[in-house]
Amino acid sequence: MELEQAVVVVTGGASGIGRALALRAADEGARGVVVADLDAAGAEAVAAEIGACGLGIGGDVADDAHVGALLARAEDAFGPVDLFCANAGVAIGTDVTTPEQDWELALAVNVRAHVIAARRLVPGWLERGRGYFLSTASAAGLLTQIGSAPYAVTKHAALAFAEWLSVTYGDRGIGVSCLCPMGVNTPLLGADAQDRTDDQQMATRAVTAAGAVLEPEQVADAVVAALREERFLVLPHPEVLEFFRRKADDYDRWLRGMRRLQASITPA
Ligand SMILES: NC(=O)c1ccc[n+]([C@@H]2O[C@H](COP(=O)([O-])OP(=O)(O)OC[C@H]3O[C@@H](n4cnc5c(N)ncnc54)[C@H](O)[C@@H]3O)[C@@H](O)[C@H]2O)c1
Repeated sequence: MELEQAVVVVTGGASGIGRALALRAADEGARGVVVADLDAAGAEAVAAEIGACGLGIGGDVADDAHVGALLARAEDAFGPVDLFCANAGVAIGTDVTTPEQDWELALAVNVRAHVIAARRLVPGWLERGRGYFLSTASAAGLLTQIGSAPYAVTKHAALAFAEWLSVTYGDRGIGVSCLCPMGVNTPLLGADAQDRTDDQQMATRAVTAAGAVLEPEQVADAVVAALREERFLVLPHPEVLEFFRRKADDYDRWLRGMRRLQASITPA
């Protein structure tokens, strides 16, 4: 997958990793970069940074009609979408007391939005014999997320859906990669946020204690390299592969280790 001359859509493109992906796609010579976000003004601002090949569109990735309109506008402006980056995400919820509406939001944005986009894109990609789906999951999708059940569960589901797409359509011209970073310096990580609950702070500490917090541009570098090789797993923190191996190697030992990590970052 080469970004040069590609038509790229990035959801959650107004901020953080999505913004870095959108800017990087433009730098790599994409023909059109559609920046989609709930934050319409933010999406338009990133598109303005990109210039003539940028298009900012406001909308909700969890709403099928919005996604239909987004893809229609992208295609009208630049032609069929070559690469769809399902990147918008929410870090919401804590333990078993997480209310239903928070579970719903996490499932809608972190999982169903990917299904909605794929349902609209895959038939055209199969017809053209090519297309590429980049899913932004998280290291939480391979491991877990201390402090947030909805995040852990929905990121596993996003990874599972990306795997399934790759198995099902990988021999018919559709490429799939799944981005699984640990900490990245964005508003979602919340490292600088003030008004956060103990559980939210613990979730952030679990990420920052586990490894380096990367800049979004470093994540974009890792994505471009993986797309070039059409490699499924994109691990900007390479140690995640070793953690994942240890989990597979001895699940109970891994669970004990995670409990120890949780205890070490839990306020007394
Ligand atoms: N920051 C990290 O440490 C980290 C680590 C692993 C994975 N991720 C994942 O990376 C992705 C991007 O997050 P980020 O860290 O750049 O956060 P961010 O908060 O900077 O950006 C997320 C963007 O998604 C948008 N968004 C949220 N809900 C939306 C919706 N329903 N429709 C359209 N747009 C919506 C937000 O408006 C925001 O601009 C997320 O899927 C996140 O789970 C982040």
